[in-house]
Amino acid sequence: MYQTLLTALENGILTVTLNRPDKLNALNRSVFDDLFLLMDEVEADPNIRGVILTGAGPKAFVAGADISEFTSLGKEEAMALSKRGQDCFFRIERSSKPILAAVNGFALGGGCELAMSCHVRLASENAKFGQPEVNLGLIPGYGGTQRLTQLVGKGRAMELMMSGNMISAAEAYRIGLVNQVYPADALLEESKKLMATILTKGPNAVRHVIAAVNACGSPNDAGYAEEVRRFGECFGTDEMKEGVGAFLEKRNPRFS
Ligand code: COA
Repeated sequence: MYQTLLTALENGILTVTLNRPDKLNALNRSVFDDLFLLMDEVEADPNIRGVILTGAGPKAFVAGADISEFTSLGKEEAMALSKRGQDCFFRIERSSKPILAAVNGFALGGGCELAMSCHVRLASENAKFGQPEVNLGLIPGYGGTQRLTQLVGKGRAMELMMSGNMISAAEAYRIGLVNQVYPADALLEESKKLMATILTKGPNAVRHVIAAVNACGSPNDAGYAEEVRRFGECFGTDEMKEGVGAFLEKRNPRFS
């Protein structure tokens, strides 16, 4: 079904491997086509409860947008490419199901932007992060100027995007770009472990967490209003009754 992705479903977790290892999994048009299809599948298939994104091969998560597709683009086409990339990564960020990036090597340019659109980032010790677009006379175009600033703050985001410097997984951890760092051979297992923990929680509540957190920074305190609305929506659901009831009865909850 997919040209550029490998997928494996196990215990409700869909592991998705971006699979262009000879090009360090660079994001070309086919990859974006596949990612849109993937998000349709993720939303539609009740058997998929969470997603882990990773890269094929030992070297790269994703080494960026496919630069070979840039040469023929004019201004309008470039804007359309940027918009499509943003739309794709919004689909990931706004997914109703948790999506975790297992960053197993280079996460540069669009690769870093893809990782940042995921809800959580775990990295291997050999991972490297950066927004090197300035080296090409470009800027990030798939949401990076916004999400990097949100994740690491304005000063560090400016430095990374203006210098094009690559940083280690340890430095990415220090500045809050990644949540945890693991030895390369443990990354996928640890990612599955964290996802498995998330999947024991109420899926309805997890969905509301994603949407409310995504509303952070909206004008006029709209994110706070979103939190109120979604807090209210949790009440009276079977899920909430089970969670609260289980606590009061001193037993573990069983979410469906
Ligand atoms: N777009 C298209 N092709 C890419 C690519 C990208 N973003 N990143 C890597 N590749 C290709 C290389 O051209 C090479 O292809 P080839 O074997 O057909 O020549 C292959 O992937 C392997 O990459 P290579 O550069 O040989 O590996 P390396 O280990 O020497 O260097 C990087 C790794 C990541 C430092 C280097 O590939 C790089 O700088 N890539 C571009 C990063 C970038 O600027 N990303 C932002 C784009 S906006």
